[in-house]
Amino acid sequence: MAESTPVAEEKRESLRLAKNYTYDKWRDALGVPVHKGYYIQDLRTVELGYWKERDCRAAFIQLSGMEGISEVRVTEIAPGETLRPWKLAVDEIVYVLSGRGLATVWRGEGDDRKSFEWQPHSLFVLPRNFTHQISNTQGDRPVRLMHYNYLPIAMSAMPSPQFFFNNPYDPTQDGAETSSLYAEAKVVQRGDDPGWNPYYWYGNFFPDMQAWDKLAALTARGAGGRSVQIQFPDSEMSCHMSVFDPFLYKKAHRHGPGRAIVIPGGEGYSVLWEEGRDKIVVPWQEGSLFTPPENWFHQHFNLGSAPARYLALHPLKQFHGYSERIEDRDRQQIEYPNEDPSVRERFAAELGKRGLNSLMPDEAYRDPNYQWGK
Ligand SMILES: [Fe+2]
Repeated sequence: MAESTPVAEEKRESLRLAKNYTYDKWRDALGVPVHKGYYIQDLRTVELGYWKERDCRAAFIQLSGMEGISEVRVTEIAPGETLRPWKLAVDEIVYVLSGRGLATVWRGEGDDRKSFEWQPHSLFVLPRNFTHQISNTQGDRPVRLMHYNYLPIAMSAMPSPQFFFNNPYDPTQDGAETSSLYAEAKVVQRGDDPGWNPYYWYGNFFPDMQAWDKLAALTARGAGGRSVQIQFPDSEMSCHMSVFDPFLYKKAHRHGPGRAIVIPGGEGYSVLWEEGRDKIVVPWQEGSLFTPPENWFHQHFNLGSAPARYLALHPLKQFHGYSERIEDRDRQQIEYPNEDPSVRERFAAELGKRGLNSLMPDEAYRDPNYQWGK
């Protein structure tokens, strides 16, 4: 058997660090701004540039923990304008940051079209291999959309970027039908783990994630949290949104990379850290975006006077990690009695700056099985 040598190790390390992903090369050649870092304070105001192929203003966002796995980009549509039709070979989630408009999707020659209207905080999916066209229906303000998809990993497996755009493949060969798109979401029973949401919602259009109130208790992560779990039909894409009350914070936990967390409403901060390393504080508000890097702990804190909500768009299941299995929680989640006291001290200090106090019950710091609301 060949032995590993120092030279080979060095080469391997440089290859590992190079991250020469096909997606990155394709994206960087477009000349559109690419924003990097741990978070974006407000996607509604992030700097955009002109994207010639799409004839619109746009920006790509590549946060630490998304590289090679998931794409986030922001598209702006000028008042009253309609983007030219476009077709992607991967499913894409769209979240409406601001503005109102109309989307039309069709397959093949377009004999069978489906149109729907959307508004701020709408969430919908543009199905792979369907052509879509998006319009801003307001004449006095631009629209901003956030797009999320798996193009980076797809382009690593198929390193021919143009394969993914306006490919003539006809989705009817997969049995795809236009008639079932954008119907009202349905609720489906999922697992029986008492700590987690027992239902998921199955649909590809959710009109307003800021107003969505069909939530179920998610006790395992603390802070009296509720959530909605969403699975998109005929797709491996999924997401969830968590809602938790003022002046509380959730338990720290960690899992795989590639999630995009966007804030539909609320005010607070999250802390991201790799075990034993410095902590990154992410202040958030409506329109903020952040991604916990792979296996970094993260913890969410509500400083606002209203329930906070965060919408987490999931990477492929291969990247989920295991923190949601009961047997893994000891390693992947920090219960309140076990957390570093500086966590609650920082929270109290932030609230104190606003003349407010934490509503975290003392009992939660003593009893790891503390049951919220009982
Ligand atoms: Fe998480």
